[in-house]
Amino acid sequence: MEQYIIKGGTPLDGEVEVSGAKNAALALIAAAVMTDETVVIDNLPDVRDINVLLEAIKEIGAIVDRVDRHCVRINGGTVNSVIVDNEYIRKIRASYYLIGALLGRFGHAEVALPGGCNIGSRPIDQHIKGFKALGTEVDIEYGKIITKAENLMGNHIYMDVVSVGATINVMLAATLAEGRTIIENAAKEPHVVDVANMLNSMGANIKGAGTDVIRIKGVKKLHKTEYSVIPDQIEAGTFMLAAAATRGNVLVKNVIPKHLEAITAKLLEIGCRIEEYDDAVRVVGVEEMNNTHVKTLPYPGFPTDMQPQMVVALALANGTSVVTESIFENRFKYVDELAGMGAEIKVEGNTAIINGVNMFTGAQVNAPDLRAGAALVIAGLAADGFTTVSDIVYIQRGYENFEKKLQGLGATIDKVSSDKDIQKFKLKVG
Ligand code: UD1
Repeated sequence: MEQYIIKGGTPLDGEVEVSGAKNAALALIAAAVMTDETVVIDNLPDVRDINVLLEAIKEIGAIVDRVDRHCVRINGGTVNSVIVDNEYIRKIRASYYLIGALLGRFGHAEVALPGGCNIGSRPIDQHIKGFKALGTEVDIEYGKIITKAENLMGNHIYMDVVSVGATINVMLAATLAEGRTIIENAAKEPHVVDVANMLNSMGANIKGAGTDVIRIKGVKKLHKTEYSVIPDQIEAGTFMLAAAATRGNVLVKNVIPKHLEAITAKLLEIGCRIEEYDDAVRVVGVEEMNNTHVKTLPYPGFPTDMQPQMVVALALANGTSVVTESIFENRFKYVDELAGMGAEIKVEGNTAIINGVNMFTGAQVNAPDLRAGAALVIAGLAADGFTTVSDIVYIQRGYENFEKKLQGLGATIDKVSSDKDIQKFKLKVG
């Protein structure tokens, strides 16, 4: 089993290039099978979830030609099945985008129920509500969601909760439905906009993505396109918080600063210095960080996917901070691991009360999910001594070359697969 071994205590310093957004790319790959023409997607992150989804569309007959690590050519003209199910696809949540995509194109999709990170119950009732409103019969049988529509018809849909997944999924299906669809209380995340932009470049008629009302005029068919995935806001934010927690100085490149505003605002509040450029953000950490309060909210609020990384920084700040998780109920599981490194955090329901400490000390910790895993790596980088992070398979699902990018910033981190490797690392770095 691969682990990260880290010798902490070195402020991160240098420049890092952010990859394409995983969560956008997953939906774009699903959208690519909605046409029988060729779709080229560039700036694709080379991470596990993406590779699993590419494998899944290949299994249903699409031609997937990996031009290079970051570019793929997809042709959905040869898709010959609407049944998506294998042991890998069950593990990634975004497999559900194939429901919207295949339902839109063929009026029928059968996709294994989504898995993903274990961060609490993750219902899909809003997806189902949306599909039903478009005239779809939805059944859950044998661990699969089975959707069938004689005739997909546009409709007026009000989302009871703001959901990125449901907004994108319904948007995918409605693109090829007859007539107009209005999605109210839609999610406004940058990747919702990215998916709408790609679909529009394929001939769709979608307006309002990025606001809470999306209007879609169904079209008969979609055509080829070449599209580049937006930069990953969460990967960028993770490096920004790593710079803060290690009191480093990092230029995070290939970002859209507007997408990072909530994170930037909190970093300023805790006393970091931020320099914004057209497509880069510099974070300069400070020795004495201030406390602050954070509540996760749908975009443009503070992202739930940045909550654990923020908690790590606040656990090293002066005074008491309060972090409220309002999106997923089970997202503080990593706190026990952090406590083992010396953090003082009390969790009550969906709130973490953090008393800042001067320093963490290295420990053996487990990554319970993707973002918490990244946060524990940041904690290890800021800690005195050696930290091992196990279950890094979670981290690899969403961060491309994580350890290499950190090494580029001067971090002492390596991927190891045995105790012998750990000993070697310790001997090497002293
Ligand atoms: C996406 C991201 C995930 C991120 C999350 C919130 C992907 C693959 N994943 O997840 O990394 O943490 O957005 O920014 O893009 N909900 C319902 N019913 C539904 C759907 C959602 O009640 O049908 C609730 C969820 O339980 C949660 C909230 O809505 O409380 C937001 O979930 P949603 O935005 O759908 O998250 P995902 O799309 O699953």
